[in-house]
Amino acid sequence: MEFKGNHVLSVNQFNRDSIQKVFDVANQMAPYALRQKRTTVLDGAILGNLFFEPSTRTRVSFGTAFNLLGGEVRETTGMDNSALAKGESLYDTARVLSGYSDVIAMRHPQAGSVSEFAEGSRIPVINGGDGPNEHPTQALLDLYTIEKERQYHGGTIDGLHIAMIGDLKFGRTVHSLSKLLSLFNNVKFTLISPSELAMPDDILARLENAGHEVKVTDQLEGSVDADICYQTRIQEERFPSQDEANKYRGKFRLNQTIYTKHFQSKTVIMHPLPRDSRADANELDNDLNMNPNLAIFRQTDNGVLVRMALFALTLGVDNIVSKFDRAVNWYSNKSQS
Ligand code: CP
Repeated sequence: MEFKGNHVLSVNQFNRDSIQKVFDVANQMAPYALRQKRTTVLDGAILGNLFFEPSTRTRVSFGTAFNLLGGEVRETTGMDNSALAKGESLYDTARVLSGYSDVIAMRHPQAGSVSEFAEGSRIPVINGGDGPNEHPTQALLDLYTIEKERQYHGGTIDGLHIAMIGDLKFGRTVHSLSKLLSLFNNVKFTLISPSELAMPDDILARLENAGHEVKVTDQLEGSVDADICYQTRIQEERFPSQDEANKYRGKFRLNQTIYTKHFQSKTVIMHPLPRDSRADANELDNDLNMNPNLAIFRQTDNGVLVRMALFALTLGVDNIVSKFDRAVNWYSNKSQS
């Protein structure tokens, strides 16, 4: 995959070499993300951060990543606050915004919308989530986290056993992550969801055609010999009605007691977040917060590294980031206090 000047719209663009490239660049970003030093490699560049659907970590981490590379961020949030609400096309919006920015990150509630937008853009567009379809940067940060967690436990992604739980129909993060994992060898998938919210058939076919072992079930039962337990939220915003979503709320909860009953003591717990902490949902209980295998905040931290890497690669500065290193006054102050 050629990164420079190109869009990042789908995980289908990636192979193992291009994934490794992103991970190698992400590894170099840690001192900047920790604010131990800074780089001004993107001084003068502007990110157009367009979020037409709610977001906390994707939007803020895209902006943070760009700032950490020395660039500036301009953003719009919410459909109602943009001219899309007046009937402007995605094409026109893209043509306008690509005159104001050097790269665009975008989220939109409709599947395929970010690709449609990219057709009108003259600069790289990075998909921050398009409806139930894809969330490629989340999948990359999840995979990056899986690799780090596996390394910690002396393993690799090849040979991984991952259990995915919850809304596997509308959960775009599990769609994108499954597709990336299908590029590896001998991965075992245990897919646990209400049958109405099962993983789409095309993704199941892709996993099976690539030779992976796939178990589909509507019950969390017995001992699940998984390395990773990837929990998800019921994507209530994708259901035709709230009543329909309510049927599934709280159906697959994970707390310390359930974790101990069904998983190994070293099983890593992941969730793309946000977790729904309301009492009737609570799919990932606070009583797991002190469990050292809970990787959810390592995932969110890794999101900055991976998004920094994608900006550096798409803007073609990945090899000169350290050339523009600067000392950081604030980190020195922090160390002394
Ligand atoms: N994981 C994720 O996409 O979170 P946000 O909706 O907060 O961006």
